[in-house]
Amino acid sequence: MARHLITSALPYINGVKHLGNLVGSMLPADVFARYLRSAGHEVLAICATDEHGTPAELAAAAEGMSVVDYCDRYHEVQRSLGERYLLSWDWFGRTSRQQNHEITNHLAARLKAEGFMEIRSIEQVYSVLDERFLPDRYVIGTCPNCAYERARGDQCENCGKQLDPTDLIEARSAVSGSSQLEVRESRHVFLRQAALADRIRAWVDEQRDWPQLTRSIAYKWLDEGLQDRCITRDLSWGVPVDPVEFPEVAGKVWYVWFDAPIGYIAATKEWADDDPTGGRDWQRWWRTDLGADDVRYTQFMGKDNVPFHTLSFPGTLLGSGEPWKLVDQLKSFNWLTYYGGKFSTSQGRGVFMDQALDLLPADCWRWFLMANAPESDDADFTWDLVAEAVNKDLVATLGNFLNRTATQITRHFGEVVPEGGEPGAIEAAFVARVEAGLTNYCDLMNRLEFRKATAALRATWAEGNVYLEEREPWRAIKVDRDLAAMTLRSAIGFARVVAVASAPFIPVAAGSVAAIVPDAKLEGALDPSLATTILEVAPGTRFEAPGLLFGKLEDEQLTAWAERFGGEG
Ligand code: 2FM
Ligand code: ZN
Repeated sequence: MARHLITSALPYINGVKHLGNLVGSMLPADVFARYLRSAGHEVLAICATDEHGTPAELAAAAEGMSVVDYCDRYHEVQRSLGERYLLSWDWFGRTSRQQNHEITNHLAARLKAEGFMEIRSIEQVYSVLDERFLPDRYVIGTCPNCAYERARGDQCENCGKQLDPTDLIEARSAVSGSSQLEVRESRHVFLRQAALADRIRAWVDEQRDWPQLTRSIAYKWLDEGLQDRCITRDLSWGVPVDPVEFPEVAGKVWYVWFDAPIGYIAATKEWADDDPTGGRDWQRWWRTDLGADDVRYTQFMGKDNVPFHTLSFPGTLLGSGEPWKLVDQLKSFNWLTYYGGKFSTSQGRGVFMDQALDLLPADCWRWFLMANAPESDDADFTWDLVAEAVNKDLVATLGNFLNRTATQITRHFGEVVPEGGEPGAIEAAFVARVEAGLTNYCDLMNRLEFRKATAALRATWAEGNVYLEEREPWRAIKVDRDLAAMTLRSAIGFARVVAVASAPFIPVAAGSVAAIVPDAKLEGALDPSLATTILEVAPGTRFEAPGLLFGKLEDEQLTAWAERFGGEG
């Protein structure tokens, strides 16, 4: 059994995240973590808020708060929303904490010692009206490559070209719109990525099982040539550079994309430091010389994050000259769109994590989002798809099976597992079909193919209904009570197997189903062979009816939601 380290891209601190953010990293990471735990593996699932950078400063200013108070508030908002979506992080940290300051400066010092840091004087845009240096992306203007008029100083959104703010034509401040910009000289630390490129490429070449999307993005950047990157900023909010190591740039902070991924390591240290017994060892997860050589590390993120995770962050770790654990598997997602367009906070388009929970319970969102995850391509959110996921899958397939089973049992046998009868050929075939379904499901989960995995799971749920239709316990009860008893007992066994298999996606419902006839030996036992337990439910033990697990969505409701959230219903 391997040990699994799982991280999801750290959500920016500013504001509540939308469902596209959720399905692009945090939710699949949780589904995978739960799946591995259900299969009995040791898992450490880490996330944190990504708190530095100008967006946080500007968002705080817009709410009239200090950036520290703002981050405190939104860390708590995001943590509690994560909890309400049942995101089972082992730790949800903060990049602004001391642990991240320490490890970021440690790695910076190592990179300097290895010769990969260089102080350079650069010309930087200063906004006279805003009285501040402007980070690259807050200088906007016309792209010299494609003439797009709102290109940002770090990258053109339209043609994708990486830019410097001084490349822009008719540059202006994105903060105030002022074009009273001056170029001032400022000293900064540069990470010599060009000097690291061969090492990074050799490591990427070794990553044979990365998905196609991930590989192609990494090679695109490598083939274009890795540029040395300026990794300090003239800001007050961020991880301050260590003035002893880097006296030339004392008073500046590290660039947010330098400290953020280091936050994965630092949040693991937060987790360890939080244990008063000292029983948690963070280095066992991160240092291959200190026990992490048997860790399998899987990262989850949106596709825009891929270059940072395949190139820059590994470059930081490789360049340190220390034996850090590097990512093994990297799962990236395309975009979830809302009726063909972007989710937009300012235009009130799309559904945000807090709003969604006012409409439907977390299990429904988790299932809908994963069944429609933007894996091989962008995926489009529509209320029809929400209705399909809830009404067809959860209500008509899974819920219907459970209701029919529970109703027949309580009506004819009371609250005990029915006794009598012997399984026959129909049961043997049923078990075999479930085992085949689980084999397919587990294969897909191991390969991180979540959409296909939900289809395999849905098909396995449907086997329960097929079985009931074959045996018709509602008819059998009138002529052969033992046959009905055996059928319903097998149905309970199937429900318990389904509970274990479905828990990664719908943990609340799965918990209720598992409780109908609890059995500790099923915990941590997710494996196709679990199907054989279908015929092993002890007769005469207490049966707890699960109640109504999912409610059907009506058309009027969907129309009202579509109107409220700006989609055509
Ligand atoms: O794109 C984002 O949402 C970033 N906050 C992700 C950071 S991931 C990690 F590197 F911290
Ligand atoms: Zn362009």
